[in-house]
Amino acid sequence: MSAKLELIAAACHNRGIGFKGNLPWRLKSELEFFTRMTTNTKDAGKKNAVIMGRKTWESIPANHKPLQGRLNVVLTRQKDFDLGDKGVVCNSLEEAVSLVTSPPYNDQIERHWVIGGSAIYEAALNSTSCHRVYLTDILADFECDTFFPEMDETKFERVEDPDVPEGIQEEKGICFKYNVFQHK
Ligand SMILES: NC(=O)c1ccc[n+]([C@@H]2O[C@H](COP(=O)([O-])OP(=O)(O)OC[C@H]3O[C@@H](n4cnc5c(N)ncnc54)[C@H](OP(=O)(O)O)[C@@H]3O)[C@@H](O)[C@H]2O)c1
Repeated sequence: MSAKLELIAAACHNRGIGFKGNLPWRLKSELEFFTRMTTNTKDAGKKNAVIMGRKTWESIPANHKPLQGRLNVVLTRQKDFDLGDKGVVCNSLEEAVSLVTSPPYNDQIERHWVIGGSAIYEAALNSTSCHRVYLTDILADFECDTFFPEMDETKFERVEDPDVPEGIQEEKGICFKYNVFQHK
């Protein structure tokens, strides 16, 4: 079985995704969208994997770690990084793809979500396993120090997903729009 990597990210006007180790904004409905998309499965006997960089793992508040109902896969180059029973550690994206597509996980995992940050998104965009990008455009300016990588839009086409709300969303006066791109 091969992995179909699905990236999910929210980026503001300058493609910013993070500031000082956290999200630059607080949008409850966008976070709920992230949780719903990365958690729900068609097969009730399976769960999804969420693949993330070590800093994104550290940005998750302690009381929300691991991300519930999902296999948490954390990428680090540190050889002694230990998550205990909270998740699994991999030293590269290739290793993570290999892990989730091999026994015992291949029969347990339905979708393979890549949830950031920058270098992990970039590796996933350049991977032959890259399938879809769920990118929320936050239609506002925020100060950011972490950015979504350049995406070669000629390699992707916009698709519809019935699970994704259409049109401009708004919360606390901030407008945003969900987009779905599929690798051609
Ligand atoms: N808006 C969004 O959708 C979104 C999504 C996710 C995160 N964020 C934000 O982005 C920021 C965190 O992202 P970030 O880009 O700074 O860090 P990150 O990608 O989460 O973590 C970087 C770390 O991941 C490990 N790593 C990176 N590439 C690797 C590879 N190819 N193989 C193995 N390990 C690898 C390294 O860990 P070691 O140093 O341990 O080796 C590296 O220091 C936070 O502000 C967070 O809130 C936003």
